[in-house]
Amino acid sequence: MYTRKMTENIEAIVSIHWERRLFDSLIPLPDGTSYNAYLVKGSDKTALIDSTDPDLRDELLTPLKGVGKIDYLVSQHSEQDHSGLLPELLELYPEAKLLCSKKAEDLLITHLAIPRERLQVVEDGESISLGDLTLKFIYAPWVHWPETMVTYVPEERCLFSCDLFGSHLATTDLFAVDKARVYEAAKRYYAEIMMPFRKIIQKNMEKLAEYPVSFIAPSHGPVYAEPEFILEAYRDWISGKVKNEVVLPYISMHGSTAKMVKYLTEALVREGVTVYPFDLTVTDIGKLAISLVDAATLIVATPTVHVGPHPAVHYAATLANMLHPKVKYGAILASYGWGSKAIEQLSAQIPSLKIEVLGTILQKGLPSAETYAELDKLAAAVANAHRNDPDVLK
Ligand code: FEO
Repeated sequence: MYTRKMTENIEAIVSIHWERRLFDSLIPLPDGTSYNAYLVKGSDKTALIDSTDPDLRDELLTPLKGVGKIDYLVSQHSEQDHSGLLPELLELYPEAKLLCSKKAEDLLITHLAIPRERLQVVEDGESISLGDLTLKFIYAPWVHWPETMVTYVPEERCLFSCDLFGSHLATTDLFAVDKARVYEAAKRYYAEIMMPFRKIIQKNMEKLAEYPVSFIAPSHGPVYAEPEFILEAYRDWISGKVKNEVVLPYISMHGSTAKMVKYLTEALVREGVTVYPFDLTVTDIGKLAISLVDAATLIVATPTVHVGPHPAVHYAATLANMLHPKVKYGAILASYGWGSKAIEQLSAQIPSLKIEVLGTILQKGLPSAETYAELDKLAAAVANAHRNDPDVLK
């Protein structure tokens, strides 16, 4: 790879990981990803912000050969996709200091075996001069780990935003030009990585609002030369508002649950509610996460396997609980042959979600006329709850 100018004094070195399909052994990456490092060249000193994933070391080290001296390495985030190459960089640049937040100090030592004497902790709000450019460090915890910080260069109105505002998107575009594509990737990324920290992101965004930006340069995906695009998207995603939507993940083994799901979907549509059913045998879990960003209601449907819910539904419920979406209402549908604790077990799995349960339906064998009547009642209850809730966008 090579360096690419963002401004006269800032260059991006983007390691594009075209073929990566899984992040943290958990998150699907249908569009690959990238790890962005940034060179900031002041009149006196040069800093490199973040590094790259060790799997792509040459993507960073090759372009750095032409750069010469680096005075500061900046670790905004200790996770290995950005800091994994720091041990090698510290050997290559023996004079360089590694700047990090207070909480990162321990993480960099314990996770990457960085020698303590190479680290220089910067305080929240501290500035370091590169000559005609300044690096101002702003602590922004939990975007994505507790130690994360962002870096602002006031002379360029550039915010290096760490994982915040990123997207898992392998592209040769330095800037976010294909907005529809970037929006989808950024929303997927938000859903899978940032959504659990929604409340703290609100605080971080309030804190960052005082800094005027012409560029937002995240650690993954394209740079935003029109920052309002991603700021507006985040304001929407982290707001307290939800949409008149139901997310309906399900599994069916012998057809009973599928019949209930199909009937309920149609009943909800008749009530004016948008529904996203997900057959978990074929679902990209990232699509399910995206749908949870906005939905007002989550309804989970499962057959019974050895008394409890199907393992795939178990997993989806655990994931929903972990991602902490802003859903406000819920319901559970379960079918069984001769005995079931599926509803009790699923209810116990989602304690993080502060939802009002609008109904549970436990069906033995095929759905009957009474079952369909219950599903009609549930659809009406969902529509009614959405209609009467001022937080549900109409
Ligand atoms: Fe991109 Fe949390 O690492």
